[in-house]
Amino acid sequence: MSTLAAQWDALTIDELRARGSTKWTMFPDAIGAWVAEMDFGIAPPVADAIRATADRLETGYMPKALARDLGEASAAFLKRSFAWEVKADHVGLLGDVLRAYELAFTYWRKPDQPIVLPTPAYPPFMSLPARQGVEVIQVPCQRDENGVWRLDEAGIEAALAERGGLLVLCSPHNPLGRLYSRAELERVAAIATRTGARVFADEIHAPLNFGGQHIPYASLNAQTAAHTITAISASKAWNIPGLACAQMVFSNDADAETFVGLGHHTTRGASNVGVRASIAAYNDGGDWLAEVTTYLDGNRKHLAQRIERELPGAVHRAPEATYLAWIDVSQLTNRRDLAPMLREEAKVAVTGGEDCGLEGAGSFRLNLATPRPILDEALDRIFGVLHKRR
Ligand SMILES: Cc1ncc(COP(=O)(O)O)c(C=O)c1O
Repeated sequence: MSTLAAQWDALTIDELRARGSTKWTMFPDAIGAWVAEMDFGIAPPVADAIRATADRLETGYMPKALARDLGEASAAFLKRSFAWEVKADHVGLLGDVLRAYELAFTYWRKPDQPIVLPTPAYPPFMSLPARQGVEVIQVPCQRDENGVWRLDEAGIEAALAERGGLLVLCSPHNPLGRLYSRAELERVAAIATRTGARVFADEIHAPLNFGGQHIPYASLNAQTAAHTITAISASKAWNIPGLACAQMVFSNDADAETFVGLGHHTTRGASNVGVRASIAAYNDGGDWLAEVTTYLDGNRKHLAQRIERELPGAVHRAPEATYLAWIDVSQLTNRRDLAPMLREEAKVAVTGGEDCGLEGAGSFRLNLATPRPILDEALDRIFGVLHKRR
């Protein structure tokens, strides 16, 4: 076992709670296994970059050169990791990916068009547009004969057929953990092309995969480059969501110009320290990320084995990417409000499937980015409650 893995194994619940993150402080009597934060600290080059920002007294408004450096680091990272060539000046800077989503549905969707959202989905994909009166059409994914979650392609096409719209493609998928194949993405591309849709590709989880190949949707072909707005961030893979930095990646000149035209006050929000940390993550964070993904790979396999052995009737498939596991326990309990139930009875805070869209009720999302002994403790508690309910 590597030194880092041994250190992570030894972390305690009290230590994690003392760090004060949202995951561990929102429900002080429960194990935090909900919001997408990791418990593994940060990569040494990222820590150095954070300290260097303070040492340089780099606390004024962001200089243009710093934003440019992040554009270059992002473009180099995308090329190295996914063979996707983007222009450094087509990388726009924002505080977070949800802001990118908001811009996408505000400026890259006509007012009468819907957002089309495969579900289950990251909850703010529904709540954020709903609060602004924007229509969201949910299209539930379906499990195929091998238990693999698939996009409902016919449903997506039907939802886009009348008025076009903005299709949200969360790739890799939160919460189903799917890493979409080229063939699947090509079929989505054909649908978007036929219906004249725009696609918001949220690829925030892309660096976190287990040997599979993430294919940036916009990199597929000329059509996807023309109709896609991509959002990325170092925040998930390098665990820096509190530092405020995300990127919109444009794959055609017109969209890049639209972004610039929105002006600084629309596109603001990234912090200097977040930009410095993201540059360090993209340029120098590969070794640490490899350790993290190895550890997560162990956790996802461990979870799948324990569910198979100890929770017959639960439906689960180990995620192909990222650290969020989707577990359907609808055959084990009649309760459909799993988040409050597990919080109260198991003292584990998970994300309820009921918050992830139509047909999510009866499932829950578990965050695996935690020390294995704590994962085991969470599973002992959850399984105990579900066994009692049989
Ligand atoms: C798919 C997805 N998109 C966006 C976000 C939010 O990212 P940000 O904090 O940059 O808005 C998350 C956070 O968990 C996520 O899982």
